[in-house]
Amino acid sequence: MSENTRKIIIAGNWKMHKTRHKARELAEAIVAAVKHHQDLPEIVLCPPFTALLDVVQAVQQSPIKVGAQNMEHRTSGAFTGEISPTMLTDLGVGYVIIGHSERRQFFAETNASVNLKLKAALEHNLTPIVCVGESLDEREANLTDSVVSRQVAAALTDIPQTESLKLVIAYEPIWAIGTGKHCPSQEANRVAQLIRRTVSELYRNDPASGNSDKVQAGDSISVLYGGSVKPSTIDELMDQPDVDGALVGGASLQAEEFVPLIESSQKRIKQQLSRV
Ligand code: PGA
Repeated sequence: MSENTRKIIIAGNWKMHKTRHKARELAEAIVAAVKHHQDLPEIVLCPPFTALLDVVQAVQQSPIKVGAQNMEHRTSGAFTGEISPTMLTDLGVGYVIIGHSERRQFFAETNASVNLKLKAALEHNLTPIVCVGESLDEREANLTDSVVSRQVAAALTDIPQTESLKLVIAYEPIWAIGTGKHCPSQEANRVAQLIRRTVSELYRNDPASGNSDKVQAGDSISVLYGGSVKPSTIDELMDQPDVDGALVGGASLQAEEFVPLIESSQKRIKQQLSRV
């Protein structure tokens, strides 16, 4: 898989917003807005747990997918307050965000717990969107590249190369999340390239590395950018060859803001199609 065939994804992370009723309304508005569109990206809506079923039902007759914002890695047991991978697949959920910086920052998630959740997601056929990204202090100390590559390598520990091809990585610089300060698109592209190089390097000595498909592990996965993505910034972002879409917070909460992001990504898909 290459730049021309990687999946383009526009994902909405609704965070702790929307009651069931409001979530259904938003999902229905997005379904209606894209109904007659062709060459759509993979659209993933990630409402809070309480609204997952409503959104799954609202998008049922459409190509739109539903994701959770987090999950526990174990399948069942005495883990009060947690939601397991099987509970998600049971609802018809296909994606799960793993290791969002808000989970790392406020809920003590670590690179090690991200790795466990990633393995569990893959085992249960949930497509993981793994979030990585540096803080402002780390960026100012020139640590962006080392932080991001360490997070990617830790997330993928003991994950076979064939499985790694199924994951999506979102580069989300913490200083750009919810702040209105979006990362310049060329810089997002540079870090996306770094993520691809890191993934390829991890599998460089894989016994299967004779297979040219597998050597290019980093080129095969979709890498998204997230952090204050808005209709005004998406075109430039989608022009970046190593950025395959966006993970969107604030601008995913209203159809009027989210649908233009989908439409912008369609231009990239048309270009891809014209090249194959
Ligand atoms: P934002 O959030 O678009 O509101 O910055 C992005 C995210 O946290 O995934």
